[in-house]
Amino acid sequence: MIPLKAQNTMTINADQPQNKISRHIYGQFSEHLGTGMYGGLWVGEDSDIPNTDGFRDDVVEALKALEIPNLRWPGGCFADEYHWRDGIGPREDRPTRINTHWGMVEEHNEVGTHEFMRLTELLDTEPYISANVGSGTPEEMAHWVEYMTYDGNSTLANLRRENGQEKAWDVKFWGIGNESWGCGGNMEAGYYADLYRRYATFAKDYSGNELYKIASGFSDDNYGWTETVVEQAGWMMDAISLHYYTIPTGNWEQKGPSKDFGEGMYFAGLKQGLAMDEYVSRHSTIMDKYDPEKRISLAVDEWGIWTDPLPDTNPGFLQQQNSVRDALIASTTLDILNKHSDRVRLANIAQTVNVLQAMILTDGNRMLKTPTYHVFDFYRVHHDAMLLPLHLDAANYTYEGEHIPAISATASRDEAGTIHLTVTNLHATDPQEVTVNILGSDADEISESRILSADAVDAVNTFDNPDRVAPQSFEDYTLNDDELTLRLPSKSVIVIGVE
Ligand code: AHR
Repeated sequence: MIPLKAQNTMTINADQPQNKISRHIYGQFSEHLGTGMYGGLWVGEDSDIPNTDGFRDDVVEALKALEIPNLRWPGGCFADEYHWRDGIGPREDRPTRINTHWGMVEEHNEVGTHEFMRLTELLDTEPYISANVGSGTPEEMAHWVEYMTYDGNSTLANLRRENGQEKAWDVKFWGIGNESWGCGGNMEAGYYADLYRRYATFAKDYSGNELYKIASGFSDDNYGWTETVVEQAGWMMDAISLHYYTIPTGNWEQKGPSKDFGEGMYFAGLKQGLAMDEYVSRHSTIMDKYDPEKRISLAVDEWGIWTDPLPDTNPGFLQQQNSVRDALIASTTLDILNKHSDRVRLANIAQTVNVLQAMILTDGNRMLKTPTYHVFDFYRVHHDAMLLPLHLDAANYTYEGEHIPAISATASRDEAGTIHLTVTNLHATDPQEVTVNILGSDADEISESRILSADAVDAVNTFDNPDRVAPQSFEDYTLNDDELTLRLPSKSVIVIGVE
């Protein structure tokens, strides 16, 4: 048996719930990019791959199990060159455009508003529409809102009916531009703030539908953008976004591989991922200045690891493998977002299928669940649960003189009173013992305990070996009165319920 190298202690105050962890932190993102939508989710009704109304059954079934709260669409950068009228009416009549951001491929608009909304029904999720500000007009956007959400008599509402949708859809999440400082129009913050107010004015609430308007925020550490946009337009928004991608090397030109790497790249990826904490804290502190009551949410609507594309793939398709390292980037990031859930009430990992840090990979008629998929499955216990105060005294994981904490965790209590803990051991080689003191609770039984772990830092699931990184039952714990002792193997994440 490998000796346990370090002692970690955690104290949880089960009787002092903080705020609700919005389930919308667990949102997903499906851009028209590479094989994310076409091939990954959509194969069309005539495909040999079993599908429902064009969406593949295997992928829908797997995603449905994650209880995805919201799905962002159609971009990303694609959103600011997407014109919604291209995607309605008979498919054979829809125009062919060029997807200039992502590989210069033809976009046939097979998936448009009606198809996407059908997907949200199949997944039982809420739509998050990202509207075109960069190359569109306020009129175009206003008409899209009316087309989708007006239940009365108007030419646009009747056009929706002609196209097969009698009832107006419920649409809450409405993004006004995406990365407007970059691919969404290369704007200055003050200019965007004006534009935001203008567009938001014409994004109306129809027929009882209430839009939740999300402004385009910056990425990483551009705090000036957040300050200007919140100061000048905060009163008209429900949320402002933040994008942060984990680049293992920290260099966008050479990001690092998604498979076949050693401990250096493993450590670097985890360390870069943990930077989310600082970005969320500092953007939130700026927002506190203008919104001390925290009415405006910080919507981390793009996050995840971004590596070099897989060899021999179209670099514009952003295809990468997904390893146990990436699963731990997901678990530690979700811990950070949970910790800040008094301000972060919406987030979307990028992206759902075949693109960047995906839940699912497909190859023709085959599909697999990635290690990241399993983390999202574990973390379902935190959806809409109450965040519990957690004091963690963690050992260090040191690699070549650099340190990160060896342990990351979230504790929450659900409606039934069950306390759930998700705990990650980031260490590449050393198991960790964690002593958890649960105060303010008489819970004395373990209700659920699963673990995700792997035999190597770069372990991935492949179509030939789809369950190399897959959940197992977790038994290596003891529970005595209010003290729970967990023994986590290296590079692992667990979910455990106490009731
Ligand atoms: O997720 C891929 C791209 O990353 C998105 O389209 C864009 O918003 C971001 O730069």
